Amino acid sequence: MGSNIQEDPYTLPDATAPSLVLTHPTEDEKRRTWTLNHREWGGALSLEDYLKREPYLTTIPLTRDGGMTHWVLTDSSWPAESGENRPILASCESISKRILVASPGDTAVRDGVGHGVGSVFTYPEHRGNRYAGRMLNELGTALRTWQCEKKGSADVVCSALWSDIGKTYYAKKGWAVFPSLHIEFPVPANQTQGSVEIGKGKGKVSPITYENLGQLCETDEKLVREQVLRKARETNRTCVAFAPDHDTMRWHLYRDDFIASILFKSSPGPTSVPSSIKGVIAGTQEGRRVWAVWSRNYYGGSGKPTDNVEKNTLYILRLVIESEASEGEKPSEDVVEGFTAVLRTALHEAAIWNLGKVDLWNPSPLVKTLIERSGVQHRPVERDVDSIPSMMWYGDEKISEIEWVANEKYCWC
Ligand SMILES: CC(C)(COP(=O)(O)OP(=O)(O)OC[C@H]1O[C@@H](n2cnc3c(N)ncnc32)[C@H](O)[C@@H]1OP(=O)(O)O)[C@@H](O)C(=O)NCCC(=O)NCCS
Repeated sequence: MGSNIQEDPYTLPDATAPSLVLTHPTEDEKRRTWTLNHREWGGALSLEDYLKREPYLTTIPLTRDGGMTHWVLTDSSWPAESGENRPILASCESISKRILVASPGDTAVRDGVGHGVGSVFTYPEHRGNRYAGRMLNELGTALRTWQCEKKGSADVVCSALWSDIGKTYYAKKGWAVFPSLHIEFPVPANQTQGSVEIGKGKGKVSPITYENLGQLCETDEKLVREQVLRKARETNRTCVAFAPDHDTMRWHLYRDDFIASILFKSSPGPTSVPSSIKGVIAGTQEGRRVWAVWSRNYYGGSGKPTDNVEKNTLYILRLVIESEASEGEKPSEDVVEGFTAVLRTALHEAAIWNLGKVDLWNPSPLVKTLIERSGVQHRPVERDVDSIPSMMWYGDEKISEIEWVANEKYCWC
């Protein structure tokens, strides 16, 4: 006779159960998670291509060599011998980034580490059980010391995320909301024709490519360091910025190249795929140049870049006005011309690449003036739901006392 003894069926634990742990997924679990969250974050990529992109993103500057960490919330009391897969109750990723900080009395900027958090996800069948909440509580604490020995013993000063579910969910868990304004520039219908001159001289711009990007990032980081220090003095608040460094920019650009090379494989691209122009610089005199670095974003799962042109966006990752500190309220004519040339080139590139708009995040007062002076059509957009920059602060200050300098798209992940 066979045994009548039946194992207790496994029931999902309460979100407060002490047996729940924050740990790392196996390769198999990562794949399962990506398969489920492709609908959220696959953009225009097919599932097959998304399953290639996600592992690729662990091999590029910033995220390779352990720069990126995958996290899951699971149940340590799950009986391993059951033969089933352990439950993945919630999942997310973090990326370790360099941070620049200065407090009001400081004479030099401190280097720190900040973790960008992304892809917060609960498998559909587990939603509404507070698992994501539990994971985030554990994560907020874990990141405080995560990999701090790795980046030259710098302290972890913050973690940040870009909420796609509004302004309250993460704020309640300690990630405070920061400004989420952008200026949207619609791409005019005839924009692909003429008007942009790549070259040297007045009104002309020169391309930013992988050749000159590193040097420009170095210059930019120096400017941001000065800005952080200056702002701390002026506002009497602790100021923080993500370093706009070469790895950070290349992370965006490699990701962009990967997507575009798939999307334009069957639909012909303009000149070369991937695009070799990553942005443009106006002006040749050091200290008076204006430049922007950008990336493309395609929506809709059809795999065709032409399907969602209105939504497809060219994001200005970073806009640099080298003379910003000395421009004051009324920018000089060369800066207005430089900015306008950069913006018009961005619109031109957007049109070529089937992108219906150009977005620029959180422009400074000077940049707002430059936008007005450019005469280019635009509208301000206050985002209430998507990509809300949110920060948890690990220093002694209250988060409400923190000023986020250069809160632009390059910080996002
Ligand atoms: C958002 C998500 C991670 C929440 O997971 P969960 O385990 O069900 O979350 P919890 O049970 O901890 O919390 C549920 C709360 O999330 C809120 N929530 C869930 N989806 C939301 C949405 N799209 N917009 C606003 N709030 C949302 C619920 O209203 C509930 O709010 P309450 O705490 O005031 O009751 C899950 O719904 C998900 O994976 N969604 C798809 C991916 C996504 O949007 N991720 C967030 C990216 S920033």
